[in-house]
Amino acid sequence: MKAINKASPHPQLTMPSDADAMRAYVGEGIPEHLLEHPGIDDSVDHAPPRRQVLTNAEKRLALRNALRYFPTRLHSQLSVEFAKELNEYGRIWMMRYRPTQYEMKAYHIDAYPAKCKQAAAIMLMIHNNLDSAVAQFPHELITYGGNGAVFQNWAQYRLVMKYLSEMEDDQTLVIYSGHPLGLFPSHSDAPRVVVTNGMVIPNYSSQDDYDRFNALGVSQYGQMTAGSYMYIGPQGIVHGTTITVLNAARMHAGATDSLSGITFVTSGLGGMSGAQAKAAVIAGAASIISEVNPHAAHKRHQQGWLSVIADDVDDAIDRMEAAKASGDAISIGHIGNIVDLLERMVERGTSVDLLSDQTSLHNPWQGGYYPVTMDFEAGKEMMSSNPAEFKAAVQESLRRHAAAVNSLTESGTYFWDYGNAFLLEAGRAGADVMSDDGLSFRYPSYVEDIMGPLCFDFGFGPFRWVCTSCDPLDLKRSDAIATRVLKEMAANSSRDIQQQMLDNIRWIEQAGANEMVVGSQARILYANAAGRKRIAKEFNDAINSGLISAPIVLGRDHHDVSGTDSPYRETANIHDGSMFTADMAVQNFVGDSFRGATWVSLHNGGGVGWGEVINGGFGMVLDGSADSERKLLSMLDWDVNNGITRRAWARNDGAISAIKRAMIENPKIKVTLPNQAEDKLIDSFFRGED
Ligand SMILES: NC(=O)c1ccc[n+]([C@@H]2O[C@H](COP(=O)([O-])OP(=O)(O)OC[C@H]3O[C@@H](n4cnc5c(N)ncnc54)[C@H](O)[C@@H]3O)[C@@H](O)[C@H]2O)c1
Repeated sequence: MKAINKASPHPQLTMPSDADAMRAYVGEGIPEHLLEHPGIDDSVDHAPPRRQVLTNAEKRLALRNALRYFPTRLHSQLSVEFAKELNEYGRIWMMRYRPTQYEMKAYHIDAYPAKCKQAAAIMLMIHNNLDSAVAQFPHELITYGGNGAVFQNWAQYRLVMKYLSEMEDDQTLVIYSGHPLGLFPSHSDAPRVVVTNGMVIPNYSSQDDYDRFNALGVSQYGQMTAGSYMYIGPQGIVHGTTITVLNAARMHAGATDSLSGITFVTSGLGGMSGAQAKAAVIAGAASIISEVNPHAAHKRHQQGWLSVIADDVDDAIDRMEAAKASGDAISIGHIGNIVDLLERMVERGTSVDLLSDQTSLHNPWQGGYYPVTMDFEAGKEMMSSNPAEFKAAVQESLRRHAAAVNSLTESGTYFWDYGNAFLLEAGRAGADVMSDDGLSFRYPSYVEDIMGPLCFDFGFGPFRWVCTSCDPLDLKRSDAIATRVLKEMAANSSRDIQQQMLDNIRWIEQAGANEMVVGSQARILYANAAGRKRIAKEFNDAINSGLISAPIVLGRDHHDVSGTDSPYRETANIHDGSMFTADMAVQNFVGDSFRGATWVSLHNGGGVGWGEVINGGFGMVLDGSADSERKLLSMLDWDVNNGITRRAWARNDGAISAIKRAMIENPKIKVTLPNQAEDKLIDSFFRGED
């Protein structure tokens, strides 16, 4: 490894005009004097008021907790304001302390007033998560998913930025659910930041507990990439959905590289579900996505993710059939209820190859699922005016929904549950969704059938990177490096992983044309351990030579091999009874932290809800140095092989072959492999009914 080459072939990037203001104010912390209140800015979306859950005694505690961030002489004025926020919003966001001297967005890494580059990179990533072009409710510090928080309040943001601007290479910042405990001495190989979000004693992990702790200001729901500063906008979900749909079509509809001539029907054009429209067209399908909320459908149309809008079920079906016949890719947004569409398809005998659902059934009674018996506005009204009747209507709708799914699958349609609790809620509503033995659902979840066996068991997962120069040219150069590496690897890879390589080569070659970059210059692709290490090492070399002008941040989301224990999603294809344990995620967080991660995070919740999942994440800054190379090789190896080994121990065939390959490539890996017991032997014991 050469010394870092300072000469760069890049023209000097002009810093954004407010970079100087950001540099001047970002580290100011909480000033001694009272800041002027910036008011509520209606040009951005705001989080809905939270449920009022605190008793008066608890409200006094929440107020006392909030005031401890500020000098006592400001308390009489701030207490009035914070009590009002608590009464109006159910939370104390400390709106007065939202910075307004600079725009909240990622700046060139060199613009940050930091003593170490790693801290500057973390500041950049925090700013990106709070950018109004990226975040869902930027002024309530929510990045995505309605409640995925970066911090609980603006005082925490201010203190964290101050600590990061002062931090040196031998200190670590400790963050408890957004609250910075402080800087502590460590060493240069230690993480610069350790984040935990929503860690609670297991018996206190219900939704009600969360509401109370969050209102008191002592815990938060960080989702995953929100509370770990690793969100890159919708690119991640579009990529994951494209890979899922492509592989579903290969496994069940005879597709090879494209879904041309294949029909795909689903529902939901909301936050994550909206990605289905874009992914269907990237994959080449003739698709319909039903959406009851006209506003959500039109938003996706304006954004260009929906090809056309259809108000009528027959119009939608006719257009889909025409596209199937011509082999054209199309995403048709049907404004209406998915149940109306499916029942009409059953009547018409429409041929549907792939079928799924992404209504928000993790939240069935508060607007996640609208019943077919009423229109959208009537549903909205009834859920608050008559919750019991609304619940009965949702359950009736789910029974009809499942009956239509069953009719279509009897004619050859492949249906999968998209991790949205469709089967769970349909089953609870008494719909016919159980398998013959009554022990499991009759349809698989997408991880059980598709992502688990094809991707996670082999180590393929969401490797992402962010160019800290904020320069599109660096992203282009990094794309070219990743494409070359994947092509070289695909030429020599074993058959069982070659398709994954080829899909990701195609994805990254089209990445520029798909225009998925929002906020920071970031990219995502799926790669296995060997791929992640090689791409990262080549990035590091390119930074060293000056081909890439500034450090790159590596990271990932939770939809991955090792980082997440989530029994109905990421670990749904673990069948040895350990799907409800969380050792893997916790070990991942700890193991990454001493193998060179720049920051690590551990979360309760993420995707499927508080109490339902534990996930760990990391961020790693590559600066072109030999130290970076040492750390990336060590940490990325562990970050993938931890999960593969656990999946292998659960007797998953793909994972067994993947970890055997890893042990040949690196003789320092020695793992415990399972021995297989014969079915005949096992079945000879414990016979009879329980
Ligand atoms: N995209 C993924 O890869 C993925 C992965 C795992 C889980 N999920 C799950 O998918 C669900 C959707 O996530 P989201 O962020 O898009 O939620 P969201 O609430 O933003 O969107 C869901 C959409 O479904 C619409 N809808 C509700 N009932 C309907 C009905 N009967 N017919 C037609 N449309 C209806 C709603 O109006 C809403 O726009 C969640 O439960 C999420 O956890 C998604």
